[in-house]
Amino acid sequence: MKKNKFSKNWVKRQKNDFYTKESKTQGYRSRSAFKLIEIDQKFNFLSNSKFILDLGSAPGGWSQVASKKNKNGKILSVDIKEMLPIVNVKFLRGDFINPNIQDDIINYFNKKIDVVVSDMASNTTGNKELDSIRTGNLCLNALEFSKRVLNIKGVFVSKIFMGSVFKEIQKEAKKVFKNIFFFKPKSSRKESKEIYIFCKSLRILND
Ligand SMILES: C[S@@+](CC[C@H](N)C(=O)[O-])C[C@H]1O[C@@H](n2cnc3c(N)ncnc32)[C@H](O)[C@@H]1O
Repeated sequence: MKKNKFSKNWVKRQKNDFYTKESKTQGYRSRSAFKLIEIDQKFNFLSNSKFILDLGSAPGGWSQVASKKNKNGKILSVDIKEMLPIVNVKFLRGDFINPNIQDDIINYFNKKIDVVVSDMASNTTGNKELDSIRTGNLCLNALEFSKRVLNIKGVFVSKIFMGSVFKEIQKEAKKVFKNIFFFKPKSSRKESKEIYIFCKSLRILND
């Protein structure tokens, strides 16, 4: 009964939401697309980047934005869920945490890349602290992987949920990158604990 009321409210909110309507008008698959658009407006990194990895890409809003901004780029998108094709984007279905998938990503580019974006989020449980830890661990994994794949001026962007894991992510990011910023796009719902970390320039280039 409670769940039903909750889902009805969710559907109503979605219907009236500005970014949901705008995503339909502009042909984006998700309202999340506007988050990457805003992050790019603030930090201006997509159009100067050629090799881009999009982690947790389905249904494809961020990949659509990357593809629009970067017509001659090489973009690889990864998700556990299926994603319909997007022009100029190669899709790899699998769990990013799986070392074989990480090897596939490295082999696909076969060189250091410019950008890793991650909007990965674990399935929500209703327990905000647990959700924040699970999604935070995905961010930490993506951060660790970025060290291996990014070029020295590379950019790493990731979703995080504010919570106990925040300080650890900040500490790890500072070890890896010279510049770190936190940003909450307007299109990220106010009531959500979601924010994004933007990191640039590796401290040390790994082999
Ligand atoms: C918020 S959605 C991403 C929305 C996407 N950025 C867009 O604009 O359409 C989060 C995605 O992360 C994916 N995900 C969660 N854990 C993952 C993992 N370990 N490996 C790959 N994808 C994962 C989920 O399947 C889900 O599609």
